[in-house]
Amino acid sequence: MIDYSKLETAKVEPEASSTIETYRAVGYNLETAIADIIDNSISAGAGNIWVDYLWDGAATTIFITDDGHGMNNKELIQAMRLGSRNPLEKRERKDLGRFGLGLKTASFSQCRKFCVISKKIGSEPVYWTWDLDYVNQSKTWDILKYKPVNKNAFKKLNEVESGTAVIWWDIDRLTENSSASDEKAKGRFLEVMESSKNHIGMVFHRFIGNGLNIYFRNRKIAAWDPFMTGTNGIQTRPETKIAKGNITIQGSVLPHRSKLTPEEYNYGKGPKDSWTNHQGFYVYRNNRLLVAGDWLGMFKKETHYDLCRIKLDITNDFDSEWQIDIKKSQAIPPAAQRQIILVLAKEARDLAVEVYRHRGKVIKRTFSKDSFLPIWEEYVRHSKRFYRLNRHHPIVQDLLNKGDDSTRNIEEALKFIEETVPVPLIMISENQNEISSGKPFEGINHDPILRIMKEMYKQMINNGYSSKDAKARIANIEPFDSYVEYLEQLEDIIA
Ligand SMILES: Nc1ncnc2c1ncn2[C@@H]1O[C@H](COP(=O)(O)OP(=O)(O)OP(=O)(O)O)[C@@H](O)[C@H]1O
Ligand SMILES: [Mg+2]
Repeated sequence: MIDYSKLETAKVEPEASSTIETYRAVGYNLETAIADIIDNSISAGAGNIWVDYLWDGAATTIFITDDGHGMNNKELIQAMRLGSRNPLEKRERKDLGRFGLGLKTASFSQCRKFCVISKKIGSEPVYWTWDLDYVNQSKTWDILKYKPVNKNAFKKLNEVESGTAVIWWDIDRLTENSSASDEKAKGRFLEVMESSKNHIGMVFHRFIGNGLNIYFRNRKIAAWDPFMTGTNGIQTRPETKIAKGNITIQGSVLPHRSKLTPEEYNYGKGPKDSWTNHQGFYVYRNNRLLVAGDWLGMFKKETHYDLCRIKLDITNDFDSEWQIDIKKSQAIPPAAQRQIILVLAKEARDLAVEVYRHRGKVIKRTFSKDSFLPIWEEYVRHSKRFYRLNRHHPIVQDLLNKGDDSTRNIEEALKFIEETVPVPLIMISENQNEISSGKPFEGINHDPILRIMKEMYKQMINNGYSSKDAKARIANIEPFDSYVEYLEQLEDIIA
C-alpha cells in the first residue's frame, strides 16, 4: 500500500472550458439530446412533458418542461455538476440515469447556454444557468444565477405544482448564426425538430402507451410501436429469459406486405422511414429504448430479413456489462450472453425469411410453365462426367450473342473454365469440411441480381409476357430462384 500522507502532491484540475468543449463532442444529435432530458423528467416521476421551441434565428430557444417532483436549490446545484452521481451507484429500477452527466452533456451538445428552473410543491422556483462564454471568460466551473428574459420559456412551469424546465439557447450548431427571417435555416430547424418528435415517440413508446403524455408544441406525441402490437398476422417466438431471468428476448416476425393495409405498411416503416432500417434488435433498458433496429454487429441488414424485429429487455443492473453509453444509444451484449442471443435471433430470422419469401415461392410454383434453367449442367463425354455452362441460360446467352469479335475469346475462356471445374476438390470439401458451402450471392451485394432480374423482366414484358408469367419464368432461372422475394419489386419498374 502506498502511504499517500508522505507524498508531495500537485493540483491538476481539469481546465473548465476545454473539458466542456470535449463533452460537446460526445456525439449527440438533437434527437438523442432531447431524449436524454426527457429521461430525467421520467425519472422524476413526470406524468406530462412539454417539448417546445421559439424560432428566432440565432436567438432560438428550445425548452423542455415536466411536472415531476422538481428540485430545491441545493439539489439543483448538485444536478448542474458534471458527474453529479457516480455511475457505480445502484439506482432504482425506474431511474433512467446512470452517469450524472446527461443533463449537462446533452444540453452542451446543442447549445452554449442553458438554464434549469425547478420547483418543488409549495416552494418558489429556483434556477441556475450554465454559460460556456462565461466559463471561457472566468476559467472556472461556476454557474450563474441567471434566467432567460423570454418568459414564454417557463410559462408552463408556472402552471404546474412542481416540475422542472430546461431551457437551451445560443443553439449554435443548429441555428448557425442565421437570422429569424432566414426561411431556409428555419426549414432545416423545423425538419430536425420534426424528426426529434418522431424519435421521442419511438424511444418512449412504452411509457406513452402506459399513459405518459409527451407534448410537442402542445400536441401529444403519438407512440411508435416497432412490434405493431395488435396487428393481425404477427408471429411471435416464445419469450426466453436469460441472466437469471433478468434479460428477456423475444423475436417477432411481422406480417408480409401483402397482408398489411397500406397504412399498416407505412406505419411499419417507422421514424427511419424504411423496413430494412428497422429490422434487428430493439434493446430496452427499464422500458426505455436504447437501440432501435440494429443487429448489434451479429448480422448485416438484408432486405429478406425486413420482417424480423427482436425485443431485448434489460434492466439498469446490466449497465456496465452491456456498455451503456452516456447518450443511451448503445448497448453491446457481453460474451456470456451473446451466444444465446445469436441462436435465438437466428431462429427468428429464419422464420422471417420464410414469411418474406412465401409469396415469391407461391408465384414460382403456381404460374411456372417453364422448366428450371440452371447455370451449370452435368453431361457425360467418353464415359466421364463433366460440367458445362448452360447455353440456354439467359446470362450465358447474352454473353455469347454479342455478335462482335470478342465472342470467340469468350467462348474459349468459358471452355477453359468448364474444363477445369475443380470437381474432386468440391467433393472432398463437401464431405469433410465443417464449414458449409454458401448459396449464390450469400453475404455480398445483391444489386447485380436485382439489376439483371429487372432487365429480364423488362425484356419479357416487351416480348408480350404477362407480368405473372414473366415473374414465374424468372423465378425458375438460377440464381434468381434463391431470391424470389425480389420478384415483387419488379412490378414497380413498368408502372
Ligand atoms: N427534470 C428533472 N427533475 C428532477 N430532477 C432532475 C431533473 N433533471 C435532472 N435532475 C437531477 O439531476 C441529476 C443529474 O441529471 P443528469 O441527467 O445530469 O444525470 P443522471 O440522470 O443522474 O445520469 P445520466 O448521465 O445517465 O443522465 C439527476 O440524477 C437528478 O437527480
Ligand atoms: Mg439523466
